[in-house]
Amino acid sequence: MVKGIRVVLIFIGGLTVWNQSTRSDGRTVAFQDPNRWAKKANASNLALAGHYAQEIMAPDPTNHLGCREPDIDRYGYLRKDIVVNPSHQRDFTVTQRKHFFALDLTQCVDRIRPLMSAIIQSMQLLGPENCALSIVEGRSTDGTFEVLQTLREKVEAMGASFYLATNEANPTKAGDDDKKARVAILAELRNQALAPLLDSPAQYAPDTTILFLNDVAPCAEDILELLHQRIQQKADMTCAMDWTYVGPHPSFYDVWISRGMTGDTFFDLPPSGSYDNHWDLFWNDRPAQNHFYNHKPFQVFSCWNGLVALSAEPFVNGGLRFRGSKPEECVQGEPQILAKDLWKMGHGKIAVVPSVNLAYDVESAQKVKEAKGYVSDWARDGSSQQIEWEPKPPAKVKCMPTPKDQHWLPWDESLDSSDESRVDLR
Ligand SMILES: *[C@@H]1O[C@H](CO)[C@@H](O)[C@H](O)[C@H]1NC(C)=O
Repeated sequence: MVKGIRVVLIFIGGLTVWNQSTRSDGRTVAFQDPNRWAKKANASNLALAGHYAQEIMAPDPTNHLGCREPDIDRYGYLRKDIVVNPSHQRDFTVTQRKHFFALDLTQCVDRIRPLMSAIIQSMQLLGPENCALSIVEGRSTDGTFEVLQTLREKVEAMGASFYLATNEANPTKAGDDDKKARVAILAELRNQALAPLLDSPAQYAPDTTILFLNDVAPCAEDILELLHQRIQQKADMTCAMDWTYVGPHPSFYDVWISRGMTGDTFFDLPPSGSYDNHWDLFWNDRPAQNHFYNHKPFQVFSCWNGLVALSAEPFVNGGLRFRGSKPEECVQGEPQILAKDLWKMGHGKIAVVPSVNLAYDVESAQKVKEAKGYVSDWARDGSSQQIEWEPKPPAKVKCMPTPKDQHWLPWDESLDSSDESRVDLR
């Protein structure tokens, strides 16, 4: 009985995470110019922020999670030389950046150190002058905003560009039932985090990768491995695995969003919403299960799972954006819709990288690293197995507005069916 109650709470908790960032009606967007932030820093939070920022920037930011130094032999090639815009050959400040970190953050000061440390450490390996960091903060009272504000000049001093926007409205006020409206707001927030890239695409290389992070507590190698696999596999999108603790063992978290090449959820969620089957991942998908237990990347229909590496190209050239469901479309999370739109555009090379395992607070993240291992436990030899990409999506995909309400629908339900979609396997 107790277990049943907990399980329901977790599922609601899962949805709550999607509500953390919000749109404001009189939205205040303030990129780069700190004097234009409509939001005022809280003086007592600001007094503490310096200490956080210092720790984040420290040379050994791995301590919280027992993270290891990223493997230079594996990831060093990602750095490459700075691409200098040919029309400004002597101006080394005019470079095309190629790694775009995007986040929507609310009230997460308890894990902001590992989160931002992992980003800073990744940037140091990738070359900060190749990187941009874009954050949309909203509604925090715990110092999240002040820490980010304080980090700004330190990140810029490294040579990376840093964009901080705020967005204060609270979508949970829209009512718990109005999932559709909430997803639309979350989609807009994600797009807002991409705005610096989408507004000035000439500042970015054609093969730019978007690294989109939720408020997870990762290691730098988690970020770098997803980027590495996106490039090595020529993937459109690579995702982590994320976990939560319902009981003593970690349960896969993003069950609302992720779908395998069967079109089904990663584990069977009965109408009761019980997590009793959470241990039985990919129960009806033996190839995926084999790859999962061998810590090798495998193709899926959709995923997000707290952290993704995503090609910027469909956004920049194809007009792709995050969106909520259309009036006639089955209600689903904006990452599942994004995957659907990617498949439609012929960008269905979407994969889970099961050596990357994340959680949403420091204590759970430590436990997950113990239970599932660190990336470097599985990626020591530098070898990687190439995914055999399926060119076609599953005919039907499960849409699940709630556990009680599960439907098998054509994968392209409500999309314009005029053109045949096929993944370009080049
Ligand atoms: C500033 O934040 C502290 C706690 O972080 C809070 O107690 C205080 O009321 C806040 N001050 C203002 C003016 O909002």
